[in-house]
Amino acid sequence: MPALFEIGAEGGAYTVDLTRDALTAALPAMRDGVVIADEHFARLLEARGQPAITLIADEAAKSLDAVGDVIVRMRQAGATRGTHLWAIGGGAIQDVAGFVASIFMRGIQWTYLPTTLLGMVDSCIGGKSSINVGAYKNIVGTFHTPRTILIDPSLTATLNTAQRVAGLAEAAKICFCRDDATFTRYLRHEPHPGLRPEAFEPIIALSLGAKKWFVEIDEFDRKERLLLNFGHTFGHALEGASGFRLSHGVAVGVGVLCALALSRVLGASPGGEAPRFEAHMRGLLAALPELPAILRDVDVPTTLDRLKADKKHEAANYRFVTVDAVGRVQLVRLPKDAATDAAVTAALYNVLESLSR
Ligand SMILES: NC(=O)c1ccc[n+]([C@@H]2O[C@H](COP(=O)([O-])OP(=O)(O)OC[C@H]3O[C@@H](n4cnc5c(N)ncnc54)[C@H](O)[C@@H]3O)[C@@H](O)[C@H]2O)c1
Ligand SMILES: [Zn+2]
Repeated sequence: MPALFEIGAEGGAYTVDLTRDALTAALPAMRDGVVIADEHFARLLEARGQPAITLIADEAAKSLDAVGDVIVRMRQAGATRGTHLWAIGGGAIQDVAGFVASIFMRGIQWTYLPTTLLGMVDSCIGGKSSINVGAYKNIVGTFHTPRTILIDPSLTATLNTAQRVAGLAEAAKICFCRDDATFTRYLRHEPHPGLRPEAFEPIIALSLGAKKWFVEIDEFDRKERLLLNFGHTFGHALEGASGFRLSHGVAVGVGVLCALALSRVLGASPGGEAPRFEAHMRGLLAALPELPAILRDVDVPTTLDRLKADKKHEAANYRFVTVDAVGRVQLVRLPKDAATDAAVTAALYNVLESLSR
């Protein structure tokens, strides 16, 4: 089976495979390694004779305490410097496993099998791991790419609508950030949460192909890759302000709408594919009947406070990704003053009101 991609990285190129039933095919290779999996997949593996270190995939699992616990359990399972780590789960498992792989005995090799659509279309490449400390989400982390990423699209069959929307929201964002032509190709696949697993395959390939461009040209997040933060400053703040009732991907879906609204408040009228992108994102979010009630409970001043505490800002300026008149994402710096607070607040009210009805 030829690799879907090879991704160039400073620590050596790594491969991405997209194969139906990849999880079953990988079972024999896991025998000699140590496996970290979420509850659902740990149970499935154990039924097939493969033990796993089990984590509940939530934000609490992404803490330094939980990381310490995983390291102890790895050692108890006999892990050494030469052990290969396998991670099976969504972005939360990836974050913990990637972080542990980067620090355990100063770094060991690992393989990642994403099990959520978000993991498959977005987080699995790029090599980042992020851990929460106190109230600060994703505040510590490392870059440590897996040797191989094995994508098994059949695993999407058991994802609920919110998990599917979360993945499509990130895929749409990546394709839109890449260029108009990529987003047009994305829309041709008629993405919606009810798709069968096979129909997600071309969307996964397109999204990862677009993200590959960003991570190869700017592996360490200094310039181009920062554009992929589109919707994330708002998204992270909304995720926290909702008490994590909004998942990361859904919060990013709402966040890109806020970033578009902010672009308009600042005087631009996003053009190009931006109107179709916005309509598509609103369509995805409309598939979530629980969303209006969650958003009605989100407090705007709390969200603004969280947004100001985001780690992506600079000492004197806030940094946002907005969309210009020809539909291109751009990194903008806004002074830390009352006018910026008012613009951001207006964007938040505008979007939250439109989605709360
Ligand atoms: N490291 C990165 O580059 C990166 C990028 C984006 C997001 N993230 C992080 O990823 C996290 C979100 O990840 P996520 O949305 O993939 O979900 P998740 O890992 O938080 O899992 C969400 C839920 O889905 C369940 N689940 C996983 N696979 C399933 C399957 N196939 N069928 C049924 N249920 C399944 C999990 O057990 C869990 O209950 C956030 O913490 C976010 O910060 C990291
Ligand atoms: Zn994201």
